Amino acid sequence: MIKKKVIVAVTGASGSVYAKVLFDQLLKLKDQIESVGIVMSDNAKEVWQFELGNQNFNDYNFKFYNKNDFNAPFASGSAKYDTMIIIPCSMGTLGRIAQGISNDLISRAADVVLKERRKLIAVVRDTPFSLIHINNMKVVTEAGGIICPANPSYYSLPKTIEEVAATVVNRVLDLAGFEQESYRWQENSL
Ligand SMILES: Cc1cc2nc3c(=O)[nH]c(=O)nc-3n(C[C@H](O)[C@H](O)[C@H](O)COP(=O)(O)O)c2cc1C
Repeated sequence: MIKKKVIVAVTGASGSVYAKVLFDQLLKLKDQIESVGIVMSDNAKEVWQFELGNQNFNDYNFKFYNKNDFNAPFASGSAKYDTMIIIPCSMGTLGRIAQGISNDLISRAADVVLKERRKLIAVVRDTPFSLIHINNMKVVTEAGGIICPANPSYYSLPKTIEEVAATVVNRVLDLAGFEQESYRWQENSL
């Protein structure tokens, strides 16, 4: 099995719990991972504090990069990170990526992943969408990115907020190519 090099960007959209559940899942999948680089926007940290009531992102044993650190390996295509997950992805970050405005590490890393024809998964979050948002999602899709909205499903009968968030995160992990146990329609008994 070829181990993955993954970038996870967390931005200031609502839904920090998605990032938390993804961090927890990645720890469980460490056998499939060569390296994980995390970058959080300033608003991501504020929203995490507001929504989850803590700063526990500091406790995860991943390599964190400053949002302005263009010396991070994945600021260049030569580092060959294969997948970037933006979770949750704000409309601001989506717009910067769609327009190629690589003015921070998140938008630059996404730019690199797209130009190198690797996998970009953007877990966009807002509601409703304006035509600007929809056009930006179209541009990113046409450039090869995957828009995977933070739209939970309920047919697995999730009981907690984290279980609800996992219905999105598990789809993201499938898209990223991880082997994982998760609820699969008509395959799991409840
Ligand atoms: C509590 C809170 C919730 C927010 N939720 C969203 C959201 O769901 N979607 C969104 O696009 N922006 C949301 N925002 C606004 C973004 O944080 C803001 O546009 C920010 O500039 C995005 O920058 P970033 O992508 O660099 O984090 C929210 C802000 C706060 C404080």
